[in-house]
Amino acid sequence: MSTRSYSDAVADPYEAPPLSFTDKEERTIAVRAYDGSDEEMEALVEMYDSFDPADRAQGIPPGREDRIRDWLDNILGDDCLNVVAWDGDEVAGHATLVPDGDAYELAIFVHQSYQRSGIGTRLIKALLGHGRVSGVEKVWLTVERWNRAAVNLYQNVGFETSDAESFELEMTIRLAEPDE
Ligand SMILES: CC(C)(COP(=O)(O)OP(=O)(O)OC[C@H]1O[C@@H](n2cnc3c(N)ncnc32)[C@H](O)[C@@H]1OP(=O)(O)O)[C@@H](O)C(=O)NCCC(=O)NCCS
Repeated sequence: MSTRSYSDAVADPYEAPPLSFTDKEERTIAVRAYDGSDEEMEALVEMYDSFDPADRAQGIPPGREDRIRDWLDNILGDDCLNVVAWDGDEVAGHATLVPDGDAYELAIFVHQSYQRSGIGTRLIKALLGHGRVSGVEKVWLTVERWNRAAVNLYQNVGFETSDAESFELEMTIRLAEPDE
């Protein structure tokens, strides 16, 4: 059991994928749960291979293709929950919930050519919706406090800061009652 603190209040029940929407650049973006196919894996590798190194958060995504593949193998495992934002057959963004004890750790990445178009907001809501219908009760993350885009995004969907002691903020959200 972790000692992290979680709100007693349950977050909004966001819509689970599949879903689609028009982003601020008038692109039609489809959000779907990762299907485990080679095609989707290769599309993710391609997105992360061209990810701007300046946008790395806490050292991820890794900078070399072999390391990207090792990292993806871990976070795309059967016990993890993954959603992908698609612009046609190109990956615009990806978000993941990785099991960690009695909770799940969240990470989200939107490719630099798709940022600031509302995709991160829709993607994280879809991930939380996917988590809720999959029985996830608690989600946590850490974020560098100067990462304004990410901190805004997390606060807007209902994350609360549970630990502000270090240069990284720890944030948590509850998706279900403990006995639900
Ligand atoms: C964080 C991230 C996922 C946001 O994705 P996005 O698609 O650009 O997000 P949105 O367009 O939905 O915007 C979300 C909010 O952040 C704000 N925002 C986005 N980019 C910003 C920036 N560079 N600086 C300040 N605020 C920013 C938006 O204004 C919006 O806030 P609002 O709704 O109050 O206006 C994206 O910037 C990213 O992938 N960054 C690199 C990786 C990373 O830091 N991941 C998070 C840590 S794991």
